[in-house]
Amino acid sequence: TAEQTFRIASIPADGVGAEVVAAGRAVLAALETAPAGRFSFAWTEFPWGSDYYAEHGVMMPGDGLELLREFDAIYFGAVGRPTVPDHMSLWGLRLKICQGFDQWANVRPVTFLPGITSPLRTAGETELDWIVVRENSAGEYAGFGGRNFTARAAGGEVAVQSAVFTESMLVDAMSAKFVLQPQDLSVVVASNLSADILSDLGSALAGSLGLAVSANLNPERRYPSMFEPVHGSAPDIAGQGRCNPIGSAALMLEHFGLPDEATSIRTAIETTTAQGIRTPDVGGTADTAAVRTSARSSRIDP
Ligand code: NAI
Ligand code: MG
Repeated sequence: TAEQTFRIASIPADGVGAEVVAAGRAVLAALETAPAGRFSFAWTEFPWGSDYYAEHGVMMPGDGLELLREFDAIYFGAVGRPTVPDHMSLWGLRLKICQGFDQWANVRPVTFLPGITSPLRTAGETELDWIVVRENSAGEYAGFGGRNFTARAAGGEVAVQSAVFTESMLVDAMSAKFVLQPQDLSVVVASNLSADILSDLGSALAGSLGLAVSANLNPERRYPSMFEPVHGSAPDIAGQGRCNPIGSAALMLEHFGLPDEATSIRTAIETTTAQGIRTPDVGGTADTAAVRTSARSSRIDP
């Protein structure tokens, strides 16, 4: 059978992004050699991010989206550096890709991994003394927005509002449910800001922000979709070789129509965490390379 080649643009960008992308690529490369001749990945790495910004004054070149457009997927690290304003780094690269490629669905699975203890399971031994201070008059309470063209026929009226709430559940109750009845949840659909907060909460409950993975999907497949960790560039631990490299390779394989290979990667990750090969963020002593090597070698051939 003819070998299928998936063209993937990788953008490691900043901080731990490079370490996480390198680990994902190593695991994917191991998978590629498994069922000989079935498929391969053709990688093109783009050196965009804060280094590029320091040199060129932009996070990616003006024709960046044109260059990415021909790829089957984008494998992204993280952006952000203390010396570059966040609005430049995020809006100049990651959000440009999300919006330019109409990646309107951001899918963020949360799951318990064997060998990794959720703070929920140890809550009985932990002291808790929290104060939550909440902005209580502005923000989304401000009521900025309004209606226009009310005289138009049904469907013609236009409303602009800073936040939209539907009859699904409200985010405050949902965050309580994440902790109290996590077993009742399966798929949570929420607005941009709410979902960003809920997915960080969810990944923390699963053990660490370093475990959370994310797919920015253009479901119509008119443009490449983008796969990345949920976390940022983690400048506090970047370059120390101890970030958690568990990433979104399995999600990308599902997008490629390779569910068995995605399962194989998940199994490799579960085998690794179950063996206690864990980075410090999930209570282990292993470094990034040890987790990567283990996940690579515990790959189960589909
Ligand atoms: P962050 O997600 O980079 O880090 C938050 C905490 O999680 C830190 O203590 C970090 O050490 C830990 N952490 C993150 N990834 C980890 C991993 N793989 N293994 C172990 N621990 C990990 O968020 P922070 O510090 O608020 O932001 C840092 C920079 O990243 C900022 O410039 C921010 O704008 C940017 N950012 C970028 C995102 C993206 O590219 N998608 C998403 C969120 C933030
Ligand atoms: Mg976030």
